[in-house]
Amino acid sequence: MNVYEAVHSRRAVRGFTDDPVPLEVLERVLTAAAWAPSGSNIQPWHSYVVTGAPLAQLKKVAVERVVAGDPWDDREFQMYPPDLKPPYRDRRSRFGKERYAALGIAREDWEARQRAAIGNWECFGAPAALFCFIDRGMGRPQWADLGMYLQTVMLLLRAEGLHSCPQMAWSQVRASVEEALTPPPELMLFCGVSIGYDDPAVDHIRTMRAPLDETVTFVGDAT
Ligand SMILES: Cc1cc2nc3c(=O)[nH]c(=O)nc-3n(C[C@H](O)[C@H](O)[C@H](O)COP(=O)(O)O)c2cc1C
Repeated sequence: MNVYEAVHSRRAVRGFTDDPVPLEVLERVLTAAAWAPSGSNIQPWHSYVVTGAPLAQLKKVAVERVVAGDPWDDREFQMYPPDLKPPYRDRRSRFGKERYAALGIAREDWEARQRAAIGNWECFGAPAALFCFIDRGMGRPQWADLGMYLQTVMLLLRAEGLHSCPQMAWSQVRASVEEALTPPPELMLFCGVSIGYDDPAVDHIRTMRAPLDETVTFVGDAT
């Protein structure tokens, strides 16, 4: 698989089979992903890879909390600016519309949306998950490093025939993740990434992208 194929075939998969992901594959992917770039090569990420009984237990605890209506844990970062402006607000709202339409859920059906959201804490059925942490002392450039690292992981997973779903939803129950993984106190959770084999029986949406001239400006006279 070349890089273009990996980029185009990666999507946020929300339905996995329960086929196990071999540990040696995950080790190979994470060994290669360590070559992702970071400012001054500080590699400000720390991943916990969780499978088997510990993952089953974490899913159970998280789902029970969400079903019980437990409040979200105190936020350590805002997932989106509260006053998201156009065009970002429109793109977000379009994504929500497309996702719920594909699930056959009316936008105003809050209960059905909640039920669909619960899939997040079941890792959408995935048998493996990566939880990506960053030191609390890091700044915005290091958060960008984390993004590059995570995309590298997700593309390498494609090269192994695997799919993934990055999930900030896990930060909403971060205390349960911390309890399960006991990271050192200086680390904070950014997101989880569900990892596994795509279940073809689960319908999915293919998100679109803004036209190039909305997000790229070419300057110069190159032809
Ligand atoms: C940092 C990050 C956090 C995300 N969090 C969630 C999440 O909590 N739950 C979810 O279902 N999808 C989540 N997504 C997936 C996005 O919705 C998805 O990447 C986006 O809609 C584009 O679709 P695509 O990845 O299928 O191309 C997240 C993606 C990123 C990059």
